[in-house]
Amino acid sequence: MNAEHPASAPVAALRAPFRLDGRVALVTGSARGLGFEMAKALALAGARVAINGRDTGRLAAAAQALTASTGGEVEALAFDVADRAAASAAMEGLHARHGRLDILVNNVGARDRRALKDFTAEDAERLLATDLLAPMLLARQAAGYMVAQGHGRLITVTSIAGQVANRNDPVYTAAKAGLAGLMRAMAVDYARDGVTSNAIAPGMFATETNQGLVDDAAFSAFVDVRVPLGRWGRPHEIGAAAVFLASDEASFVNGHVLVVDGGQTVRM
Ligand SMILES: NC(=O)c1ccc[n+]([C@@H]2O[C@H](COP(=O)([O-])OP(=O)(O)OC[C@H]3O[C@@H](n4cnc5c(N)ncnc54)[C@H](OP(=O)(O)O)[C@@H]3O)[C@@H](O)[C@H]2O)c1
Repeated sequence: MNAEHPASAPVAALRAPFRLDGRVALVTGSARGLGFEMAKALALAGARVAINGRDTGRLAAAAQALTASTGGEVEALAFDVADRAAASAAMEGLHARHGRLDILVNNVGARDRRALKDFTAEDAERLLATDLLAPMLLARQAAGYMVAQGHGRLITVTSIAGQVANRNDPVYTAAKAGLAGLMRAMAVDYARDGVTSNAIAPGMFATETNQGLVDDAAFSAFVDVRVPLGRWGRPHEIGAAAVFLASDEASFVNGHVLVVDGGQTVRM
């Protein structure tokens, strides 16, 4: 008997799962670090990918490197996510050029580690503008396109810092927890329009930004003890999480926070 169960996935899809051919994606903050790796993974899965950053030279070089290494279609879209007019116009242009936007990976996240008492209201406002309001407005705009086309994947990069707190990191922690809440809220509001909303919460990754800590023997010894896998995450290890959440195979995954931390947050 070879008839498929009516509720099961088509065999062809399971033979080559997680393909994103024909999909259009925007990954913010992707000239380097985790954003770069997620853009790479999405392009390798077949998506047309727009990468983003503020430094146009570095962004162009990253787009060139990604095109060469993936053989995919990768374009550079320079804007500051906190510049509302520029961000909105860039996304509008991307949508107009391709006639669709299927995947938004809201990845930019700035950090300013100091005690809450040392933040002025303006400092906090500035950080929240980049870390919370900007991804919220980008997700809202993207959701508009996605509802119209009846398909979409909103993915927001939070942090394990949105779930467990570090000392002297209050505004970033609040923003990341807020983003997880935003994805839950959008998961409820947009699901019936074909749009899923999920988060990826990375643990400690050996990105360029963390190089100082990676080189710090005492800190790396701490990572060894705290992370059950006994090491830093390798930046490329984030890519598959984005591809999975962006894929058709993740069609029933909605409102989830996918923790990618080597087990750090489940350790006693
Ligand atoms: N690395 C980790 O271990 C870790 C752990 C937990 C969570 N995360 C989260 O993962 C995300 C990526 O982290 P990462 O360490 O990979 O970052 P990163 O290496 O610092 O990458 C930053 C990227 O974002 C761009 N960027 C920064 N501010 C921007 C802005 N306002 N508008 C547009 N682009 C901007 C940068 O390019 P330009 O400088 O040219 O703008 C660069 O391409 C963040 O949300 C972070 O909170 C990271």
